[in-house]
This record gives sequence, C-alpha cells and structure tokens, in this order.
Amino acid sequence: MKYDYVIVGSGLFGSVCAYELTKQGKKILVLEKRSHIGGNIFTENVDGIQVHKYGAHIFHTNDKYIWDYVNSFVEFNRFTNSPMANYEGELYNLPFNMNTFYQLWGTKTPEEAKAKIAEQCKEMDGKEPSNLEEQAISLVGRDIYEKLIKGYTEKQWGRDCKDLPAFIIRRLPVRFTYDNNYFTDRYQGVPIGGYTKLIEEMLKGVEVRLNVDYLKDKDMYQNLADNIIYTGPLDEYFDKKLGNLEYRSLEFKTKVLPQENFQGNAVINYTEQDIPFTRIIEHKHFDPVTTKHTVVTEEYPSEWKEGDEPYYPINDDVNMKLFKQYRELAKSENVIFGGRLAEYKYYDMHQVIRSALNTINKEDE
Ligand code: FDA
Repeated sequence: MKYDYVIVGSGLFGSVCAYELTKQGKKILVLEKRSHIGGNIFTENVDGIQVHKYGAHIFHTNDKYIWDYVNSFVEFNRFTNSPMANYEGELYNLPFNMNTFYQLWGTKTPEEAKAKIAEQCKEMDGKEPSNLEEQAISLVGRDIYEKLIKGYTEKQWGRDCKDLPAFIIRRLPVRFTYDNNYFTDRYQGVPIGGYTKLIEEMLKGVEVRLNVDYLKDKDMYQNLADNIIYTGPLDEYFDKKLGNLEYRSLEFKTKVLPQENFQGNAVINYTEQDIPFTRIIEHKHFDPVTTKHTVVTEEYPSEWKEGDEPYYPINDDVNMKLFKQYRELAKSENVIFGGRLAEYKYYDMHQVIRSALNTINKEDE
C-alpha cells in the first residue's frame, strides 16, 4: 500500500488525525473536496483582514490540554466574545447581565434587577409553558423576550415562537454582574493570523490533494491505503440510499467597506423581526489589524436544501432515527467515521479536537 491512511476532509478533525498519525511515522494522504484546507474554520485573507468564511469562530474551552495543544501550533490572542444586540436602533449588551438590565430598565443593583425580572415573570405565574414564547417569558419576562429573544429566534428557526417547543430554551443564562463576556470558559481567543494558519501548521509535511471528492472515486482511493478516515457527511457516503439527513443552513453576504471601523464590535445581533439577517460580523475585530477598509458579513439563516452547505444538524427524532440506521450500515465498512458531518453532531472546535485525539489513541490500542 502506498499510504497508511487516507484521510477524507482537511477540517479540524481530519487535520488533527493527520498531524498525530504523521508524528507516529505513518504515511498520510489527505483528500479535500474544496479548493482550500481547513473545513469550516477556514479564514480567508482579504487585503490583510482574516475573514471567517463559514461563520464566526471563537475558540473557547475549559480543557487546558486542548488550549495548550492549539497554542503549540499558533499563538492565540485574547479576544473575548462580547456581542451586542440592536433592537430597533437601541443597543443592548449580551449575554443578559447588569449592563443589559440597566439599558432596559435603568436598574443599578443586582437586587433591583432581580426584583424587576421577578415582577416581569409573574405574567406566567403557575402556568406550565406550552411553547417557546411562554417558556422565555417564564424565565426572563416579557421585555427581554420581546426585545432580545423573539425576532432573533423566529429568524433562526423560520417559525413563530408560539409554534416552537418550549424545550429549545430550557435555560436562559442571566447574570447579575456587569460582565459582557459571552462564554464562561477559562480559555478563549482567536489565532493571530487566522485559523487557516493553525491548519497549515497541522498539515505541514502532509500530502494534501485539493478539489478531490473521495466519493467520486472511492474504490480507487480505498486501494491506496489500509485505513480510511472519513469526515464528510454520513448520508453522502452511502449515496443517501436511506434518505437525506437534514440541516439548518446559513447564507452569508460579505462586503468590503471603505471605512476603518463599521460597528466597533465583532458581533452585533439584530433582534427585530423586520431586519432579515440575524447578525453582522465585522471580521477585523476578531484579529485586529490597522487597515483603511473593513469586511462585514450579514448572516441569514435558511432552510437547508440539496446543494446548500450543511451547518447545523437537526437532531430531532426523525433525523436521529435515520442517523442511527446509517450508523448501523457504517459498522460493516472498514472505515473510521469522525467529525461533525460523519457523526451528524454539533461539535465546538475544542470538542472535535478532543474527539480526533481519542480516535487516534484508540487506533494505538
Ligand atoms: P468540517 O466540516 O470543518 O470538515 C470536513 C471537511 O471534509 C470539509 O473540508 C469538507 O469539504 C471535506 N469533505 C466532505 N466530504 C468530502 C469528500 N467526499 N471528499 C473530500 N473531502 C470532503 N466552534 C467553536 O468552537 N467556536 C465557534 O465560535 C464556532 N462557530 C461556528 C459557527 C458556525 C456557523 C458553525 C456551523 C460552526 C461553528 N463552530 C464553532 C463549530 C466548528 O465549525 C466545528 O467544530 C468544526 O468545523 C468541525 O470540524 P470537522 O473537521 O468535523 O468538519
């Protein structure tokens, strides 16, 4: 055999596997369908600004081992995600915290804010929430629901909050401190110079073929190596013979603007129903650079249809049943299936790295 492993996909899962196996002296071939490496964490350099091509990516984890691991490839900055919400031109800090409560009601102490929320939640007193709207009101009251949750959630799901199940928001984090840091993890940041650099470092010295769809010539590639690691969509591997696994998709409209600073923050959510996008990302704030221009992306949630990028798996009963049937089929293949598409699972970056490391450790046993 020419290679020890053929790895299908150069996203984070495939690249961590390629790096770890190369370190063990194995000969690897990585195949990538797209014209670039990195999968969905790919960042493109647009005149000096690192543009997050497939959605905003912020690395955050409590796992020190994983934080040290990624920092051994590239240096990370101290970016802290502090998104804002724009509702009919008014600005609010997120996640819901003392700043937000002050902006909404003028409350200044935790006690005042707690009393205000308790008063607002009374509307639902005693009643079991039967949909997402009632659930949100029972947790944070009507003001926060109407201004910061309703429009955004309806755009995200393409449905009225009254028609969405309550369980979607079991919990709504409310903080009684003046703390705008969205994540609660110990470690957070963005690679200086972009995520593509992280992947380039992982794939240093590894043979990578771009613009190659493994599934178009599966038999030929299977003959090149004893072992295959596949990180593409599970249903596509089986030619969708049992049906489509469904996703929510996103459309991105990206513009270069001839100004230094458009919105002063990396992420601003638009929480009213009438504005069709859910948020605007201004990429240069993730990894600050001094340029006379800026790049912004409007994000539009959309129903996934054949040919769209699959972003968020819909892990409802119907899709999970289908996934399990595909997983049964996968057992009889001599292939390792891993990553967000092959496992039909939402993974954060630190989780997908951990999963790839576990996969390689199992190979060693
Ligand atoms: P990924 O999809 O990246 O890689 C799979 C690769 O396989 C792709 O390059 C694909 O082209 C290739 N491929 C598929 N089929 C093939 C075939 N037949 N032949 C050859 N190649 C094939 N996480 C986080 O920690 N912080 C964040 O802020 C975000 N933000 C975020 C925003 C959005 C919009 C989404 C959808 C996701 C996030 N994530 C995130 C999650 C993050 O994107 C995710 O953890 C990783 O991209 C998963 O890496 P994988 O390698 O599993 O898949």
